[in-house]
Amino acid sequence: ALPRDLFMPERVNSTGLDLNNDSQLLALSEALRASATATWTALPASGAETPPQRVRNPADRRDIVGHVVEATMSQVDVAFARAAAAAGPWAATAPGVRADCLMRAADLLEARAAALLGLIIREAGKSLPNAIAEVREAVDFLRYYAEQGRALDGPGYGPLGVVTCISPWNFPLAIFTGQVAAALAAGNCVLAKPAEETPLIAAQAVALLHEAGVPQDALQLLPGHGEVGAQLVADARTCGVVFTGSAAVAKQIQAVLAQRLNPDGRPVPLIAETGGQNALVVDSSALTEQVVADVLVSAFDSAGQRCSALRVLCLQADIGDRTLTMLRGALAELSIGNPDRLATDIGPVITDAARDDIADHIAEMRAAGCVIHQPPLPDGCAQGSFVAPTIIDIPNLAILKREVFGPVLHVLRYPRDGLDRLIADINATGFALTFGLHTRIDETVARVTALASAGNIYVNRNLIGAVVGVQPFGGHGLSGTGPKAGGPLYLRRLLAQRRDAAFV
Ligand code: SER
Repeated sequence: ALPRDLFMPERVNSTGLDLNNDSQLLALSEALRASATATWTALPASGAETPPQRVRNPADRRDIVGHVVEATMSQVDVAFARAAAAAGPWAATAPGVRADCLMRAADLLEARAAALLGLIIREAGKSLPNAIAEVREAVDFLRYYAEQGRALDGPGYGPLGVVTCISPWNFPLAIFTGQVAAALAAGNCVLAKPAEETPLIAAQAVALLHEAGVPQDALQLLPGHGEVGAQLVADARTCGVVFTGSAAVAKQIQAVLAQRLNPDGRPVPLIAETGGQNALVVDSSALTEQVVADVLVSAFDSAGQRCSALRVLCLQADIGDRTLTMLRGALAELSIGNPDRLATDIGPVITDAARDDIADHIAEMRAAGCVIHQPPLPDGCAQGSFVAPTIIDIPNLAILKREVFGPVLHVLRYPRDGLDRLIADINATGFALTFGLHTRIDETVARVTALASAGNIYVNRNLIGAVVGVQPFGGHGLSGTGPKAGGPLYLRRLLAQRRDAAFV
């Protein structure tokens, strides 16, 4: 059993913005107006050595959000040298002092939230509510890991040294900040490579952490493409890796890390959060209105670009048509377009390449004769990377060969007596991230949640938006290594064994 204080029951998450409060709303509107034309930059820790590249808004490619300069191979090398020199002093800094830096960063982030929301919207194509949620989650990660780090004061624990963090574009602030905050709280120095699509918001997070007191060399930003990440992982000075992205890249990282051991003689730890083939099972006792509302959010919020998002809706056959009719009607009410309009529900996907990849999948499904519901894209979508929210009727799970990361919902009908078989098929995909169940039969809740293999299992609610410290988030199998983000075990993976004490 875990010590009860690890769960920190008295801790409070960020409350975000109160949009019913007129003065907050006014300040927000002004900040959004100002940030609509602002430009931002992201540079490697040791400065610009190559020409800047434009970062474009996925909702409108004519909009230049800012410029990024990518790190060169020699700059990555320099970053390691600086981090190695900073590692001793940062490790020797009392956990409480490190935690105070993260707490200050959380306060700064909350205070400056309004100015950063416009950047998140324009760089990542997020809707305003999603952008607000990003800031809240980043604040929560900072405070949560700060408190976890404070509790590390004691024998048996020591930092790993230099930790490489490689983060995704779909949570360009929250996951970036979460990875970095955890590694720093555990006393490690961090080399952070943000997704190449979203370096600008990452640069803001790093600047804020420095302002809050994290030493420059203890946290260094290295913008770039996959080659930068590959160099970071391959370098023997990396003593731990935190990665969120595809299962294929996680496997490559694991293979590279398996070639060496850390100075403490243990394998190089990897925390990988990857994808899912997430299912929601609905039986005939479920409340259809509630199911429809939860399906819309789970499948189409963030244009389906969450690893937690619903991919396969499994309907008991008797309620299939009724549920789909209501779902189609509700889908027709969603507004697709540039999230600079506050009324937008579904923004763009991240790149043209992502859009084309999703379109390929839809074309394959169409060719396979699966019934498809896809409204036309409204006017105004031509300048960005948009995919209309799509529903595809599939005959079985085996037809899905991969995770499709976008606003595409597959619907599978299962016979009344086919529930156990269905759960076995879902488990057999090998992914195990989120899983949902809608039923009003207690026995079904008990049986299905015991059979289902997934990191996060949700009953009679949606599948997204795990809350830091409340719903630790992460999967197993092809979905990740654990430990779960925002949970009490996360920091421990980022610690080394001290030679003078047994590992607790
Ligand atoms: N943590 C996010 C969610 O729960 C996914 O990364 O939606």
